[in-house]
Amino acid sequence: MNTAPFDPTHAHPLALPVGTTLDRYIMHRQHAFAFATGELSQLLRDIALAGKIVHREVNRAGLIDLTGGMGQQNVQGENQQKLDVIADIRFRRALTNGGEVCALISEEEEEMILTGNNKGKYVVAIDPLDGSSNIDVNVSIGTIFSIYRRVSPIGSEPTIADFLQGGHEQVAAGYILYGSSTMLVYTTGHSVNGFTYDASLGEFILSHPDIKTPQDGATYSCNDGNVDSYGIAVKTYLTLCRKRQFSARYIGSLVADFHRNLLKGGIYLYPPTPANPNGKLRLLYECYPLAFIAERAGCRAVNDTESILNIQPTDVHQRTTLYIGAPVMVDELMSLVNPKPVSKQASTAAI
Ligand code: AHG
Ligand code: MN
Ligand code: MN
Repeated sequence: MNTAPFDPTHAHPLALPVGTTLDRYIMHRQHAFAFATGELSQLLRDIALAGKIVHREVNRAGLIDLTGGMGQQNVQGENQQKLDVIADIRFRRALTNGGEVCALISEEEEEMILTGNNKGKYVVAIDPLDGSSNIDVNVSIGTIFSIYRRVSPIGSEPTIADFLQGGHEQVAAGYILYGSSTMLVYTTGHSVNGFTYDASLGEFILSHPDIKTPQDGATYSCNDGNVDSYGIAVKTYLTLCRKRQFSARYIGSLVADFHRNLLKGGIYLYPPTPANPNGKLRLLYECYPLAFIAERAGCRAVNDTESILNIQPTDVHQRTTLYIGAPVMVDELMSLVNPKPVSKQASTAAI
């Protein structure tokens, strides 16, 4: 009998460990918290399961008549794509059947969705398919989610107040990027970890532990076609970026633009425009979750006046402007958007 301890360093390359699966990672994290009951772990696993199914649909969309529009609009007045609707159904079903979630807010549905699990402790706000204008052309798209512990009594019907707690109250947030590979990135408020999907195993494998963003970057991401309608401060900042020969990179899927900037350093801007005077992006299921991740990874996330996580929510579908990315870049932009008032003493001295 061979009783020698197994030493993976001497294994044949083909026999090396595949790494830590998402399930094992979640279980390991759960054991680190004395009073964890496993419900949040189950919820995260349900999201991962729906993510795998959406990965499958995204990958064969062109073969099974899943590209193109539904011929109808969602609550935002935007044309729904077939995959918007399919992804919405997939996540809704997984989170309903999982039993841990009592209600959902989805970009695709005007009203709060009651799952019937009134004993569930959690509510989820979700953008089931982000960047849907990119579906038909094989460009990266994603899912963004945000999880709260409900404030309404367990056992009762959930209320809108469960969703309007504010960004700091998120217990977990994450996204799934359906890109050249599919990745799930999430945080429960501590480190930010990324898992790459191995479709042959059907598992997300830990590939990006403890993601930290570079302090500074040389990439800026905004819709250049809107620049004429941006305010003077943002225009000035973009001129600085061009003078420094920064790279312009804009995919048009927030998840994909955010992910690139998170790993490489950069800034994403969606300022107010005449078409969207309060910004275009949705607070609860786009900006809050990405800001929660961003801050844990060392990025900053702000609108024109305050930190995204400090915005007081009043409506589940409300919009905000968004500037998010490397702290040095966001701070420089903010010094132009909100220049410090010159103190009286300083201005007298200048005269
Ligand atoms: P969604 O597909 O969920 O409606 O989100 C689209 C968002 C976001 O992903 C992207 O960054 C932004 O809209 C692009 O907007 P523009 O086309 O106005 O640049
Ligand atoms: Mn979106
Ligand atoms: Mn969407």
